[in-house]
Amino acid sequence: MNLSVKIGKLKLQNPVTVASGTFGYGAEYARLIDLNLLGAVTVKGIRLNPVRGNPTPRTAEVASGMLNAIGLQGPGVDGFIKKYWPFLKELKVPTIINIWGTTVEEYAEVARRFDALGGVGALELNVSCPNIKEGGAQFGTDLKLLAQVVAACRKATKLPLITKMSPNVVNIAPFAKAAEDSGSDALAITNSYPAMAIDIETRKPKLANVTGGLTGPCIKPIAIKLVWDAARAVKIPIIGMGGIQSADDAIEFLMAGASAVAVGTANFYEPQTALNVIAGIREFMVQKKIRDVHELTGACNGRKA
Ligand SMILES: Cc1cc2nc3c(=O)[nH]c(=O)nc-3n(C[C@H](O)[C@H](O)[C@H](O)COP(=O)(O)O)c2cc1C
Repeated sequence: MNLSVKIGKLKLQNPVTVASGTFGYGAEYARLIDLNLLGAVTVKGIRLNPVRGNPTPRTAEVASGMLNAIGLQGPGVDGFIKKYWPFLKELKVPTIINIWGTTVEEYAEVARRFDALGGVGALELNVSCPNIKEGGAQFGTDLKLLAQVVAACRKATKLPLITKMSPNVVNIAPFAKAAEDSGSDALAITNSYPAMAIDIETRKPKLANVTGGLTGPCIKPIAIKLVWDAARAVKIPIIGMGGIQSADDAIEFLMAGASAVAVGTANFYEPQTALNVIAGIREFMVQKKIRDVHELTGACNGRKA
């Protein structure tokens, strides 16, 4: 049975990774799950310099999901390389580094620095964070800026590039195509949805940042549609995510057109979720006599990866 998939030239032993920002820098989960069983470890977003993030409270629970406004807190490129890379580089599975910047040049510089590091599996360009004033979603919702960021990173590195798409667009197809045409090797769909919750006793927003990003099971059907729409617009592989809690959820993303999936919010309440998803996909394939996981990609409409 083949569970391995390729994201550009990066080979994953199985199609399941974890979503950026929900799994720290890998090390934090090492006592809870065997990281070497994952397809890849995807780490929290990194920009050039350290970032303090937003004031607290930064998270709030909502029905079937959560809101967050972390504000892309992180150690910066040098801090990451010093503190987290020694652990990550020893893993048997590749690391996907989620990167961002406030200018096109900064994205490219971060890509260049990780290219020079050696041993990185792939870079995921976060052009879709709803929780920061500069950078993030402003790039992912402007066709011209999106193309510029991807093209600049393409020039800066030979590493596989995954563009993390914003859901906050009327039609994802032209954005998916722009990322592909500018040199992206894959797409990650989707980031969180801009959202808000209010404490009716205090009459205040539940997040100090006022608004945040909505994730978890409540976004899954919307994310499935985004993957479905994007899969019709591009030929490059898609990593599907948004509310995955089980193998059934993951298989739905594959059938919509994804080649791989990422588990996000579920890591917070059940760190074993990604491993359960891998086991469940294998079991489904045995039951249905499917030999190659690629057969599931686009199976809903017959589209093959
Ligand atoms: C607390 C938190 C932090 C996140 N940080 C990032 C990040 O740094 N970069 C990024 O591209 N996405 C980030 N995301 C978005 C996730 O990677 C993922 O796209 C989203 O949560 C949808 O998947 P889920 O519903 O399974 O959580 C974050 C999500 C959460 C909940």
